[in-house]
Amino acid sequence: MIKIAIYGINGLVGRLMEEQLKHLKQPYELLRVGSQDKPVESDIAILCTDDEISFKLAQVLKDKTKFIVDMSAKFRNEPDIPLVIPEINPHAITKETQLISSPNCTTTGLVMALNPLKKKYTLEEVFFSSYQAISGGGKKLLEDFKNPESLYRANCVPLIGSIKENLWTSEELKGLNETRKILELPKIKVRCHCVRVPVEVSHSLCVSLRAKEAFDLKELPSLFATQKGLVYDEKIHTPKEVAGQEEVFVSRLRLDPEDKNYIHFWITFDNLLKGAALNGRQIVAYLMEKFL
Ligand SMILES: NC(=O)c1ccc[n+]([C@@H]2O[C@H](COP(=O)([O-])OP(=O)(O)OC[C@H]3O[C@@H](n4cnc5c(N)ncnc54)[C@H](OP(=O)(O)O)[C@@H]3O)[C@@H](O)[C@H]2O)c1
Repeated sequence: MIKIAIYGINGLVGRLMEEQLKHLKQPYELLRVGSQDKPVESDIAILCTDDEISFKLAQVLKDKTKFIVDMSAKFRNEPDIPLVIPEINPHAITKETQLISSPNCTTTGLVMALNPLKKKYTLEEVFFSSYQAISGGGKKLLEDFKNPESLYRANCVPLIGSIKENLWTSEELKGLNETRKILELPKIKVRCHCVRVPVEVSHSLCVSLRAKEAFDLKELPSLFATQKGLVYDEKIHTPKEVAGQEEVFVSRLRLDPEDKNYIHFWITFDNLLKGAALNGRQIVAYLMEKFL
């Protein structure tokens, strides 16, 4: 029987990962690993832990497991490590792969919407402002949010992660670097602002996209429809309503009134599902089907 170990089993993503794995078609034995437990032998180790812990665990697990699926940001920018959304770039996983990174939640929603447009248009530049849920910061932030004095109550906080040398935040740099890597568009310009808002679950993005060619607004719905896991319609989707759903939702699509090379739209999706545990489960399903 295939053994799957979840590290960080008591965290927000770890707990949901356990639920998500129940959808796997193949049988498996689940090993639950919390912060007080020792690393275990398994076929697949899923690290639902922060960067530092994932780094340490990955070293220890090298000889104890066939595959490591890491939910943290630690390895995402390593050129030899695939950064995978199974509906977009499963081909990045090869026979030599041991460790697979699952992307940043905000980036996942963005690239799910850009990927189908990439088939028809030369995407040159994307601007977005994010409206990111509290649960994106893990269980400690969700706990803090319950406190009436929390900075995050009835507020918007334009700082997620840490501020880097160029004054971008680590979260904003993930939007830039991970979009380029997943879409295999190393030159696409990504300009973004990442903001934490008082929503418990589901991230949203206001996006402006520029292509080399003029957009044909009428054909875009059918292009979006080619992307598995994406829903586009004219109904306005809000984060509250999409929490608990698997798809990434696009709405409020419109052409720029002054420049046909621009479109604007709204994305919202469950950050803990497609932004984390569902994507992790889909990577695991792919590994089980192809390699185990
Ligand atoms: N939340 C999201 O929307 C989201 C989306 C995409 C990616 N991610 C990434 O996924 C990872 C987990 O996020 P999260 O939101 O679930 O964080 P979280 O709620 O803080 O959970 C992290 C868990 O890791 C556990 N842990 C610490 N050291 C460990 C060890 N040595 N072995 C096993 N478990 C250990 C912690 O245990 P204790 O309970 O004992 O402290 C905690 O339960 C992070 O890297 C995050 O950046 C999160």
